[in-house]
Amino acid sequence: MGQPTPDQPGWRCAVCGATEAIGTPFTWRCPNASVDDPHHLLQIVDTAAAEPLLDDRNPLIRFGPRLAWWRWARANGLSDQDCAALTLEVAGDFVVTPYQRDGTISAAIGAEVFVKDETGSVAGSQKSRHLSSILLHLRAAETLGLITERPPLAIASCGNAALAAATLAARVGWPIQVFVPEWMDPAYSQKLNELGPQITTCRRNAGDPPGDPALHQFRAAVAAGAIPFSVQGPENAYCLDAGRTMGWEIAHDPLGLPDAVFVQVGGGAFASCLGRGLGPSVQMWAVQAEGCAPLARAWERCGRVSDPVQHWGEIMTPWESPHSVADGILDDETYDWIGVMQAMRASGGGPVVASEEQIREANSLARAAGYQVSHTGSAGLAGLLARAETLRPTDRVAVVMSGVARS
Ligand SMILES: Cc1ncc(COP(=O)(O)O)c(C=O)c1O
Ligand SMILES: [Zn+2]
Repeated sequence: MGQPTPDQPGWRCAVCGATEAIGTPFTWRCPNASVDDPHHLLQIVDTAAAEPLLDDRNPLIRFGPRLAWWRWARANGLSDQDCAALTLEVAGDFVVTPYQRDGTISAAIGAEVFVKDETGSVAGSQKSRHLSSILLHLRAAETLGLITERPPLAIASCGNAALAAATLAARVGWPIQVFVPEWMDPAYSQKLNELGPQITTCRRNAGDPPGDPALHQFRAAVAAGAIPFSVQGPENAYCLDAGRTMGWEIAHDPLGLPDAVFVQVGGGAFASCLGRGLGPSVQMWAVQAEGCAPLARAWERCGRVSDPVQHWGEIMTPWESPHSVADGILDDETYDWIGVMQAMRASGGGPVVASEEQIREANSLARAAGYQVSHTGSAGLAGLLARAETLRPTDRVAVVMSGVARS
């Protein structure tokens, strides 16, 4: 195809510029990505914001015609009704999540603080949104006869993403392999076991390459034919598709756009999608813990080169011994750093590093305000505490309580 343009939606690799038409199936990764050269990232090029909204309380239907999987299915002969029916099968219980000004938190911070509450989402976090568009693409491909056998889905995760993946896969009876680290929290493993995926515990062995051993095993499974059911954009670009609904929900809320959003960053898909959904008029502040801040370090390094995406391996390097009570954002690399960096640059935001004390304080504040949220899920609020002195009382800032507390 030629270059995708807003009128001709498609995919473009942020690194090498390779393109894919929207109608091409299974465009999980850049065609030039390989085991030796994994540093590629397909990004959606579209005019999503111009598409009409459907009148539905399910965000995956409401914003359906904007979604890449839906447009792919339409380009291959399915109708809007077919796409809505598939959505009901995979994600019929997704709803637009609550968004409101919080009086308790606003008073504590000294600004107008708006809270998006994802703790009641399917499988208890925002991860189900990212995964839904991959599974919907697959179900649409089955409907169209492009898949006649089901290769297993594969995911590497120790928590919310694994639960979300196993939950969605179980709904359509799709086999799934979950690669988990040794130190998985029992609160998750019990629930995960109940959902019945094939679970592989990945130990770190002497002589292993650097990085997460679960991720290495996940990649090996994908190389052997599994489908990357991943919440990392470079592994499967379709996880960056429906994740945007979080931003669109806020953008379409009658409360109006906030001035800024403070969002917790682990692998970075979440912030990347929120940034795309909200657009550049909302400052993107990407919050990491002081015990694991590879994005803040990369941001410094970006300032030293003219074209950072061409220097991926030097800019985004694994953090040594990540640690924080916010254990869902301990990814040693911000895999989706490019999308978050673009959002920070376009909006005039930047990285924020929160102390452990601020992460704990944010969680106590969020719980006092009535949110049953994990330390990971309230870590964006810790970023607000870290920058409280820069805020004026009239500033309108948003945070997302992204995951329920399991204990
Ligand atoms: C509740 C919750 N919030 C936020 C994140 C961070 O999302 P991302 O890894 O896409 O940056 C995670 C990741 O595990 C999470 O579980
Ligand atoms: Zn590429």
